[in-house]
Amino acid sequence: MSTSEQMAVGIDGLAVYIPRLYIDLTGEWAEVRGAAQGVDSAELVAKLTKGIGVSKMAIPDAHEDSATMAAMAAKRLIDGLEMDPAEIGYLAVATETTVDQSKSIAAYVLGMLQRHYGVDLSHVGCPQFQFACIGGTYALEAATALVRGGDLGDRCAIVIATDVARYPMGGPAECTQGAGAVALRVAAHPRLLRLDRCVHATVSVDERDFFRPNWSAEAVVDGQYSVDVYLGCLDRVLRAVPASAAAGVGDAAKGLMADYYLFHTPFPRMAEYAAARLYRRLESLKTNPDPAAWGDDPAAEREADRATAKQDAFRGWFARHCNPALLHGREVGNIYSGALYLSLGSLVESLAVSNETRAGKRVLFFSYGSGASAKLFAGTFTTDDAQTTGVACLSNDLSPETDRPGGRRHSLGLAEYERLHGVHSKTGEPMGPVVQGSVREPASEFALVRYGTESSSVRVDLGYRYYSFVSGAGNDDLVRAASAEIPAVTRPLRTGSGI
Ligand code: HMG
Repeated sequence: MSTSEQMAVGIDGLAVYIPRLYIDLTGEWAEVRGAAQGVDSAELVAKLTKGIGVSKMAIPDAHEDSATMAAMAAKRLIDGLEMDPAEIGYLAVATETTVDQSKSIAAYVLGMLQRHYGVDLSHVGCPQFQFACIGGTYALEAATALVRGGDLGDRCAIVIATDVARYPMGGPAECTQGAGAVALRVAAHPRLLRLDRCVHATVSVDERDFFRPNWSAEAVVDGQYSVDVYLGCLDRVLRAVPASAAAGVGDAAKGLMADYYLFHTPFPRMAEYAAARLYRRLESLKTNPDPAAWGDDPAAEREADRATAKQDAFRGWFARHCNPALLHGREVGNIYSGALYLSLGSLVESLAVSNETRAGKRVLFFSYGSGASAKLFAGTFTTDDAQTTGVACLSNDLSPETDRPGGRRHSLGLAEYERLHGVHSKTGEPMGPVVQGSVREPASEFALVRYGTESSSVRVDLGYRYYSFVSGAGNDDLVRAASAEIPAVTRPLRTGSGI
């Protein structure tokens, strides 16, 4: 066995960025939407908080998009780990809500980081990965292979999953929106999580459950069917584990054993549906190692999941092994490609809060993307090093600005939320030149500052997005940044944990 095959590779650090704006689904939103549906708002709130599992959704401001959120997550990772950006050898960004139909979103992020830190990253490969919510996992898989193969030398890979989940207002999926980005440092001898050598199982099918046509800024989803396809893919990867277990089917359940189970979480109840399915399959494998015995009628299986979900034994298992990872999903909503990795951040934070050791604990991941593909893979926490996650930063993102110093969260009124939904729903034409309509002026953050307006014999940049790091609050900074050509912001490398 070669050295590279034996080398531990995995996630060395994790940082999350969630936009500071949010809409509280239990207030004005529920009253207005409830009235439109002819449902009492208290009834709707009960459905949202208990039936769907959400209470708030993160909303990007007018100057934010998938590229700025990705750059913010990367900045938090770099600053939090006190890392020299020149150590980056590969920068993969996964998104299904990209900012350009041609250019890799990772190139925009690379540019923002270069200008901010004053480093040359031109040696870095920077592809974009896209496959709905599983894109981040495909990016992680590629980055892990590069590190494991030694292709990056001493350098590391950064994987970022960034998305804005947007559905039509007033529809059943509206309450499952959200926005945010998660950045992962992938390296040898990782301080957070060592990934198992092999992905346990992969499945891909050609499905129409959820998609976003080129003409639309909003996803089209067949809601209940999408839940069935998700659970069907979970079953397929679970079936594949016994089939591929080198030790024989009798040992299949061992490969599925973990201390924590993380599921792609479009909304927290979906993770509970998946957990009930997994729990039933684990129970079944104890007495019959052949998955051929499992049922495959979607309606009958969901009824059986619902019955299981009510059992005390399941509830205890779920509270111990799954719930710690669902902390932030309720407050943020769906962040598509980053949702599984936000769950990893939630798990790490939950363990830190309850003073539980994480080193040595095994995590099984179920990654899913509509359209559809799923992967089952696993890893083991390596250390309890607190520096590997920007947990304090995430807590600030999710604390209202009025509640505590450092709290960043700003609650939107319904009218402001609907206006921003409209701003972000525009497609096809440049909205320039200067980006306007932010609820909060950008401050200490990467921002979309202007759109190119030229189409002459001298210069063509019609619709091009210009980004800059805006350092202070107020219009002056924004206008200065907006008028700069490509701002040559060169700053000394910041160290310390001020993320
Ligand atoms: P819906 O159809 O309006 O909701 O929207 P429902 O009728 O299914 O109710 C949901 C639950 O609330 C049910 O629980 C109700 O009983 C319960 P269950 O019976 O299933 O256990 N409920 C209540 N509970 C307490 N008190 C009450 C009450 N009323 C009802 N008063 C749906 C749900 C998911 C369809 C919708 O939100 C939607 O379309 N969302 C978007 C699609 C989605 O997220 N699909 C998930 C799977 S696909 C996926 O994860 C991929 C994705 O992330 C995209 C990608 O890959 O890029 C979406």
